[in-house]
Amino acid sequence: MESLINNPPGTESMSQLITIERHILEQQKYFPEAHGELTELLNDVAFAAKLVRREVVRAGLVDILGFAGSTNVQGEEVKKLDLFANEKIINAIGQHGRFAVMGSEENEGIIIPPKNDSGSYVLLFDPLDGSSNIDVNVSVGTIFSIYRIKGDDPSKASISDCLQHGYEQVAAGYVIYGSSVVMVYTTGHGVHGFTYDPTIGEFLLSHENIVTPKSGKYYSINEGSYEQFNEGTKKYLDYIKKEDPATGRPYSTRYIGSLVADFHRNLLVGGVFIYPPTSKHANGKLRLMYEANPLAFICEQAGGRATNGRERILDIQPTELHQRTPLYIGSTDDVIVAEEFEQGIR
Ligand code: AHG
Ligand code: MN
Ligand code: MN
Repeated sequence: MESLINNPPGTESMSQLITIERHILEQQKYFPEAHGELTELLNDVAFAAKLVRREVVRAGLVDILGFAGSTNVQGEEVKKLDLFANEKIINAIGQHGRFAVMGSEENEGIIIPPKNDSGSYVLLFDPLDGSSNIDVNVSVGTIFSIYRIKGDDPSKASISDCLQHGYEQVAAGYVIYGSSVVMVYTTGHGVHGFTYDPTIGEFLLSHENIVTPKSGKYYSINEGSYEQFNEGTKKYLDYIKKEDPATGRPYSTRYIGSLVADFHRNLLVGGVFIYPPTSKHANGKLRLMYEANPLAFICEQAGGRATNGRERILDIQPTELHQRTPLYIGSTDDVIVAEEFEQGIR
């Protein structure tokens, strides 16, 4: 299918106007047992993304910039847009009762929606990823991960429903609020991207069946932390910057400071994102449940690879809602090279 990108808005034929709602409905055939629930909750997430987008694109206009003065459970300064996005997602999605329990980066404990009697799903999310970039008009995003509850009584939903292996996810996705707003999701049947058309208020299919290249030419890591890296990471950085045309080196460095933006670029054009263990963060800085797991599910569905440098992200047994993990994610061949340095094989 011709992507919308080659057909400027207004010139596309009706067959190209596939909204995310319609696409999600078509995915329902893979989940006969879901009785349309998964469809409804994915649409709830898409709706919440539209609400967050509205404020993010106006952030420069509306006085919601700057620090809210509070700090979140991570001990980080929380900007108003973080709080806003968090509240919007909880309220817009919690009201329909389709989720039995939620977990957010901005909330220390689990969130039991006021109405959860019919929900058999779990939503874990990072309401605003890349918040250090809010005030400077650099892409930020929302990341979400969906599981079924382990039991069949939503009223008994608890933290244990939130601490499932990443391979148990039924859906995952992200929204990137950038030069255009794109929502990408998977239900385990390929990865699909939708670009928001503000003239009709819809996310329209623009990247069907995203397949990530086996290798790329970008590496994404915060080299400012060089002194905090272990020997393996330092050796990897020396390697990836050496001139060697046969292996496409030196790679170019691209690091935006918004995981979702770095991940999205590497997913489309190839490359590797690394947040390794550091002397400050022995398990890296990124969170397993609402950053690494959803992106790992998407990455593997697109043919890529995601590990903590040694173990598949989706196989990690979670123990805490906000636990951190090192993250090596992107094009399979590039991730393997970085892992080999981390493991001391190279
Ligand atoms: P969040 O804004 O949700 O806390 O996420 C920020 C993360 C991630 O988006 C980004 O890749 C990383 O922090 C950047 O960390 P450093 O500034 O330590 O490189
Ligand atoms: Mn984040
Ligand atoms: Mn965040």
